Amino acid sequence: MDAQVLAAEKPDALAASAPLIPPAPKVHAKDLKNLGAAWAMMRNMIGAWSESGFDTLMIPYRFLGQPGLVVSDPAGVRHVLGAGAARYRRPYQMSRILRPIVGDGLLLTDGETWRRQRKALAPAFTPKAVETLLPHFIAAGQALTDGLADHDRANLSETFHRATLDAVLRALFSRSALGEGAHLAQIARDYLQGRANVNLFDLLARGPDDFGFAERPRRIQGARWMAAVGALIDERKTAEPQRQGGDLLDSLLAARDEDGQALPDIEVRDQCGTMLAAGFETTSRLLFWAAYLLALDPKTQTRIRAEILAFPPDKIRTLDDLSAWPLTRSVLLETLRLYPPAPTMSREAIAEDEVQGHRVSPGDVITISPWLIHRHRKLWDQPTAFLPERFLNHSSPWGVDAFIPFGAGARICIGASFAMAESQILLGSLLSQFKVAMADDRPVVPVAKISLGPDREPDFTLTPITQTRP
Ligand code: HEM
Repeated sequence: MDAQVLAAEKPDALAASAPLIPPAPKVHAKDLKNLGAAWAMMRNMIGAWSESGFDTLMIPYRFLGQPGLVVSDPAGVRHVLGAGAARYRRPYQMSRILRPIVGDGLLLTDGETWRRQRKALAPAFTPKAVETLLPHFIAAGQALTDGLADHDRANLSETFHRATLDAVLRALFSRSALGEGAHLAQIARDYLQGRANVNLFDLLARGPDDFGFAERPRRIQGARWMAAVGALIDERKTAEPQRQGGDLLDSLLAARDEDGQALPDIEVRDQCGTMLAAGFETTSRLLFWAAYLLALDPKTQTRIRAEILAFPPDKIRTLDDLSAWPLTRSVLLETLRLYPPAPTMSREAIAEDEVQGHRVSPGDVITISPWLIHRHRKLWDQPTAFLPERFLNHSSPWGVDAFIPFGAGARICIGASFAMAESQILLGSLLSQFKVAMADDRPVVPVAKISLGPDREPDFTLTPITQTRP
C-alpha cells in the first residue's frame, strides 16, 4: 500500500459533513527534556510527544543519559522489526513490567527459545484454528448482551474487560469468566492497571538487576496470577484428561517441539499466562474506543448496525462470514489506527546498526510508536480524523508500513486474527441489541500505561434497538 491509498476515501454521501476529530492529549509545542519528559511519561506514555514528532520521521534523542532514536520512517520500521531484527532485542524494562505475569512465554523470550516457541504455537493461531474458536466468541458476545439486558446505562470499559477475558478464557480453557475466572480477572485488572504502570525505577534502570527491590510487589502479585492460571490448567486436565481438541489449551498440550517432545508443564502455564495477559486487555481497549467513536458518530453507528442486523452474530460460522460486515471491520481498523491499544514498541540494540542514515550502537533504544506513526502528518491524509472508509477497500492492511497496531516482522502479534474475529463478534453482538451513546458530554482522553486506556470510565446509555424500530 503506498501513501496515496492511505488517503481517506470518503463516499460522496458523507463528504458534506465534517469528520469527527476525537479527543487526544495535548501535543507540546516544544520538545520536553529529561525530568519534564519522565514526569509526563509516567502520567501518560503518549503525553510527552511534541509537534516535531508528528512532522519528523527520524528523531535522535537522549533521555536520562540514555541515547535513543524515534523511528517513524516506514523503511526504518521495516528494517528494525524486519530485516535488521537480529540486531535488536526487547528492552529489559519490558521484562521488569511483564515477566511476573507472562513468565518465559512467547512475548518475552528471544533467540532460539523464541523461534522454537513461535513454531510450536503458530498452528494454534492459523485462520483455520481461529475459525474453531468462533463459537467461543459468539458465546462471549451472548453473555455480554445478556449481562446488559434491562440496563439503560453501563460502564462499557468494565463490560468489555469482562467480555474479552470471558472470550479468551473460553478460547483457552472452554470455560467462562464466572467463578475462578472472575478471581483471575480481578488479579489481571489490578496488575495491568496498577503494578504494570511504568515507574521512575523502570526509567532509571540500566540493566536487568537494577533496583530489584522495587520489583517485589510485582513479583508477589505475579505469583498469585501464575498460581491462578496453573490451577485452571490443573482443573481442566483433571476434569477432562481425554478431551479431543477445541480450545487453545488442547493445542498447547498437543504441540510438539522438533524432537517430538510435549511442552513442559511450566511452559504451558507461561504460554497460557501470556495469552491471557496479552489477549484480553488489548482487545478490551480496542472495543472500548470503537464504542466511544461510534457513540460520537451516530451516523456511522447506524450504518454498521444495518450490516450487522442483515447478518446477525449468531449466524457466523466461518471467518469468511465476517466479510458480511465490511464497515464494522473498517471501524475497528480505524479505531486501531487512532487509538492503538499497544501505543509504543521499543527495542534495545545489541549490535552496531544504521537506520535510515542514523548510526545505532549497542545499548541504544529504538522507539517505534504506533500512536505517532498512525497520526503522522507525512504518512496519513487527515491523520486525526475518524474516517473508517479509508480501510474499506483494503482486504489486507497488515504489513502496511504506516499501519502497525499489531507490530510487524517476525514478532508481529500472533493473536491478530484472533483479536479481529473476537472484536468483530463482540462489537456486532453489542450493536445488534443496543444503540449506544455517551451519558455525558465530557471528552474521554486516551492515557497510555501498559495499554491505551481512557482517562475515566464513562457511562454509556443503552437503548434496546427493538424500541427504536418503527
Ligand atoms: C487488539 C488486540 C491486540 C493488539 C493491538 C496487540 C498488539 C500486539 C503488538 C503490537 C505486538 C508486538 C509487540 C512488539 O513487537 O514489541 C503483539 C505481540 C503479541 N501478542 Fe498481541 N495484540 C492484540 C491481541 C492479542 C491476542 C488476542 C493475543 C493472544 C490470544 C495476543 C498475543 C500476543 C503475543 C503472544 C505476542 C508476542 C509475539 C512474539 O513476540 O512472537 N495478542 N501484540
